[in-house]
Amino acid sequence: MTTQEITKFQELVYTTKVETVMATNVVVLTPTMSMAEAKELMELKRISGAPVVEGDKITGIVTMSDVIRVMEQGNLHTPLTDNMTTQVKTVLRDASVMEAVQNLGRQGYARLPVVDHDGRLVGIVTTSTIMIALLREMEVSFQKKEAERLQTYRASHIFQDIASDDTSLILRFVVGEKDFDNAGKASSMIKKSLLRLGVPPPIVRRVSVAVYEAEMNLVIHTDVGGEIIVDIRRDRLKLSAVDHGPGIENLQQVLQPGYSTAPQWIRDMGFGAGMGLANIKRCSDLMTMLSEPGGGTRLEIAFSFGDEARRVGTKI
Ligand SMILES: Nc1ncnc2c1ncn2[C@@H]1O[C@H](COP(=O)(O)OP(=O)(O)OP(=O)(O)O)[C@@H](O)[C@H]1O
Ligand SMILES: [Mg+2]
Repeated sequence: MTTQEITKFQELVYTTKVETVMATNVVVLTPTMSMAEAKELMELKRISGAPVVEGDKITGIVTMSDVIRVMEQGNLHTPLTDNMTTQVKTVLRDASVMEAVQNLGRQGYARLPVVDHDGRLVGIVTTSTIMIALLREMEVSFQKKEAERLQTYRASHIFQDIASDDTSLILRFVVGEKDFDNAGKASSMIKKSLLRLGVPPPIVRRVSVAVYEAEMNLVIHTDVGGEIIVDIRRDRLKLSAVDHGPGIENLQQVLQPGYSTAPQWIRDMGFGAGMGLANIKRCSDLMTMLSEPGGGTRLEIAFSFGDEARRVGTKI
């Protein structure tokens, strides 16, 4: 196991809930049983202990060591309730697996009944149910990582695999006006795609900030939303945020840091500091804005991918 895998395992122990790792087909004993009947049922089900349940409450627990003790005393036909442990250690279904592990390990319990907030039995955990479930979770997370790695590999080779004098990849996103539920989705999809394409992370971070500000301006300031178009080439990226209104009266004014026409309700949501366009300018290699009052606005942003692109004289 590598260090990274151990960390992942530890992380799972802390972040996974007991209900994910518990067995739900719990074998239970009833208070009317004798110890002999408890022994028989546990042998039949191949288990070494089981909770005693009355109605939906746990009233005790009986283990094979209780059975052996009672058998040695010749008391196997006495009621189970005379011989069970009544102080039952349980664990809540939404507790972390860590809590169960600590009780199973340090406190020496072999099994812990799992209860909901009303104290009802909902499952049981043992070291083996935990191990099996966590290994399954590890497998799922490994497969997800592999799929992401494969996608990244495929996407990062697109410019090598496609033969042309100049390959360009165009991504389009529709941005709805005042659609705060979906605001930020275009920028997060662009970020993901650029990382998969192998664009250096520091550049992706700058693009993300710029495109997020551009997307929010379409959401907040337009009448009917707009469109974000990303044109990606091997050595550079161009981004346009286009809308059809209301347009801007004074471009010089809106480019001033701190200038905003955002109404109070937008400011109450944490926007409207008048810093969006200034941020875009700061993060990008080139920014131009065209607008017509009553018409629309077109914001163009460009990023170069590195020194090599500049050296060969690529025009942005
Ligand atoms: N697409 C657009 N259509 C019309 N007006 C716009 C558009 N984009 C920006 N503006 C105008 O430019 C102003 C400044 O924009 P900027 O992004 O810098 O700040 P903001 O959006 O007001 O606040 P912040 O971005 O800090 O939340 C806006 O208040 C708005 O008047
Ligand atoms: Mg803004």
